[in-house]
Amino acid sequence: MPKDTLIKALNQDCADELQAIIQYMMDHMMGEGVASPSVVEIFKKNAMAEMKHYERLAERVIYLGGVPSTSVGQFKKGGSLTEMIGRALSDERKAIKQYREHIALAGEQGDPATRHLLEQILLEEEEHEHELENLLEKK
Ligand SMILES: [Fe+2]
Ligand SMILES: [Fe+2]
Repeated sequence: MPKDTLIKALNQDCADELQAIIQYMMDHMMGEGVASPSVVEIFKKNAMAEMKHYERLAERVIYLGGVPSTSVGQFKKGGSLTEMIGRALSDERKAIKQYREHIALAGEQGDPATRHLLEQILLEEEEHEHELENLLEKK
């Protein structure tokens, strides 16, 4: 069923957002070093943004008749601040690629509201990517 394909895709996004929330919160708590106060605040801000993404995606899954995923992907503990920023950047890029694919899917499935929601989230993931890129350049 077309709806099931979309629910499955949104639930994949839900699981990835949960992973991102935990990863950012872990890094917020464990980040150390000279630049850490400003960087860990960015991690916290992003954790909260990803939480809102999860909420909106989960609400959409429910609207479509599904059950939001509560499974969490693998996250990593510790590392240097630069390593944390690097892996956050790679996770954001992965998310951007996946949201672009799911935006196309929602278009194919004839669901403009889901597509619009995913586009709004994509915009924020691109902002996260840009901010993290700038942090790495400053180092
Ligand atoms: Fe997100
Ligand atoms: Fe993000």
